[in-house]
Amino acid sequence: MATVNENYLKLPGNYLFSTIGKKVREYEAAHPESRIIRLGIGDVTQPIAPSVIEALHRAVDEMGQAETFRGYAPDLGYEFLRETIAEQDYRSRGCDISADEIFVSDGAKSDCSNIQEIFGADNAIAVCDPVYPVYVDSNVMAGRTGTYSSETGTWSDVIYMPCTAENDFVAELPKEAPDLIYLCYPNNPTGASITKERLQAWVDYAIANGAILLYDAAYEAYISDPALPHSIYECKGARGCAIEFRSFSKNAGFTGLRLGFTVIPKELKAGGQALHPLWARRHGTKYNGAPYIIQRAGEAVYSEQGRQEVRQQVAAYMKNASYLRTELLAAGYEVYGGENAPYIWLKTPKGMKSWDFFDYLLEQANVVGTPGAGFGPSGEHYFRLTAFGTYENSVEAIRRIKAL
Ligand SMILES: Cc1ncc(COP(=O)(O)O)c(C=O)c1O
Repeated sequence: MATVNENYLKLPGNYLFSTIGKKVREYEAAHPESRIIRLGIGDVTQPIAPSVIEALHRAVDEMGQAETFRGYAPDLGYEFLRETIAEQDYRSRGCDISADEIFVSDGAKSDCSNIQEIFGADNAIAVCDPVYPVYVDSNVMAGRTGTYSSETGTWSDVIYMPCTAENDFVAELPKEAPDLIYLCYPNNPTGASITKERLQAWVDYAIANGAILLYDAAYEAYISDPALPHSIYECKGARGCAIEFRSFSKNAGFTGLRLGFTVIPKELKAGGQALHPLWARRHGTKYNGAPYIIQRAGEAVYSEQGRQEVRQQVAAYMKNASYLRTELLAAGYEVYGGENAPYIWLKTPKGMKSWDFFDYLLEQANVVGTPGAGFGPSGEHYFRLTAFGTYENSVEAIRRIKAL
């Protein structure tokens, strides 16, 4: 008799955004006249940049001609894209990363959830709290997290590293001994960034303790402070202890096109075994490559014109972030993030629980955000707003929040 992977049955409730979506749909059905402003889910709203669209058109035309038609893409990505990434994202910033250490994929979500497959089932994982839920849930599915306590909202075998206002939302080095450590900066959900010194401390810790850092840099394009690191490979020794995930979703609006990549340096090892060939093997077996036309679109993001255009998109979102941050601070809210990240992380007023504040904002202001508790226990009493809406909606949301 067939049976299921029982680890899936351990996953509590619905995925955070499904729960939010359901609540909003129910509210809208009951109040059809309401005009809801969505500053909850981290999806972009601006259209794809013109030079990327041109590259897509060109690639589509190539697919229609026998001479230029492309079938299966190379498993690890086309050379034209891997070489461009290595040069522009890494070597130009002084990071020693070569094209064959880059694995092109359909996005960072799949990579950062699939990466755990190449590690032993008994590896202990450590995550920031609050955290992007995918890191934990993918390990739950793999049976690495022990049992769930609905009282504390935590898993028995996961090491949680609280990120609070007291530590500037940057995790302290753990006293336990994790094998795999997930870090994400600029951070979703807190909007925090990490300094080079603190990131170097993590690299030194990982090297000293034989741990692997899984560094999610999906929001690196939002860094405005020139002193902050864009890649973990800006730190000394990171090639020996870190994997990095990148995405085209937030820097170039590819949430619907789908493109990302993972970097695994050749010398990176776990238990004496190199990880690069394992991930290459996994890619080769389970993945047939990101579409040619999308990889051409990704390449166009790095052209001179493309870079200018996506920089303008990011600037527009950061204008929203700055507006939300400034206005909420002026209205007396305790506000974090929004300076090097497209997320605003605010303390709920009067000690309200974060789901109560969600209901309150939805019902009284018709504004949707994300309750901090959905990202982990340390997210309780916090609330996330995103800068990915339009400027007009950001202004209207603030007007409504101020009127409460
Ligand atoms: C921290 C983080 N990593 C990864 C992703 C997913 O990126 P992608 O669209 O490339 O799958 C997101 C999406 O919101 C994210 O917030």
